[in-house]
Amino acid sequence: MLIAIRGAISAEADTPEEIRSAVRELMDEISQRNHLLEKDIVCILLSNTNDIHSLYPAKAVREAGFARAALFSSAEPEIVGALPLCIRMMILVESAEAPKHVYLRKAAGLRKDRVLFSVALDGPSGSGKSTAAKQLAKELDILYLDTGAMYRACAIQALRAGLHDFTEENVSPLLKNLNLHVVYENGAQRTILDGEDISEMIRQPEVSMAASHISALRCVREKMVEMQRKIASECSCVLDGRDIGTIVLPHADCKFFITASVEVRARRRFDELKTKGFDVSFDVVKREIEERDHNDATRTVSPLRRAEDAEWIDTSDMSVEQVVALLKQKIQEKI
Ligand code: DC
Repeated sequence: MLIAIRGAISAEADTPEEIRSAVRELMDEISQRNHLLEKDIVCILLSNTNDIHSLYPAKAVREAGFARAALFSSAEPEIVGALPLCIRMMILVESAEAPKHVYLRKAAGLRKDRVLFSVALDGPSGSGKSTAAKQLAKELDILYLDTGAMYRACAIQALRAGLHDFTEENVSPLLKNLNLHVVYENGAQRTILDGEDISEMIRQPEVSMAASHISALRCVREKMVEMQRKIASECSCVLDGRDIGTIVLPHADCKFFITASVEVRARRRFDELKTKGFDVSFDVVKREIEERDHNDATRTVSPLRRAEDAEWIDTSDMSVEQVVALLKQKIQEKI
């Protein structure tokens, strides 16, 4: 079937570098969201506002790696009040999938009704990112995906199989039979493994530690990232985790790296576990947080790190309401 994917982006300035960067960003995002392969493209039609003189956007498309696609590019008439430095495109593609249109930067404001947007929240355990993400998604009326819950579910699958030593060799076969679903009940994420709701079980401290170890395995990460990207491609969403801004959604519209001191994070996790009825000591919780920090930050595959374009937010002295208000304000400024 022939489908038409629409996209637009604004450039920062009329320079060849800025035009190249805008076109590349748009092409990358369209490709990623639509699983686009050049061989499936019938043609790419481009237009730009007539304040762009430094480089043909079509040339930038070629330079972005679309060497063979048939291109047509034209300048638009001058319209009063038009968004300046705007590049639009329509890509005709042979595909069985519904088109996912992409409007980025200031061009996101052109089609608020159609635009999907994504927010990446990364940070260490107990930084408050999950609580903030959940509340943020509710206020923005978009989906919240807790990716940590998915690694925790993998840990349960491995523990149930009797594994204690998590290696690629012994975990990889288990992933073939992984029957994991993320569903939503009244807006709340539930994690379902083999038909069983394990949403509460995954919060047990021994599962946290097992999740930290199992999430270091490449086979596990590949499988989880694929599932996360699929979920995120279908609707506007907030994802929280360790590698959202770096690996899962490198083109997320807004990226944040949320952190807090170890002391504060341990106190929050301790209070949370106590409220849930777990009999734990503060020192043990703190030690485990430090150990998980170390595992998450030093593993070779997708270690916890801030994406270069993620904004750093230290929540040590902030309430959840303050964090959510700050995130919301920054997101609304951007999209
Ligand atoms: O956020 P959390 O504590 O529920 O995550 C559980 C474990 O999974 C944690 O040790 C880090 C890991 N994780 C990850 O590696 N990548 C993610 N995107 C999310 C979690």
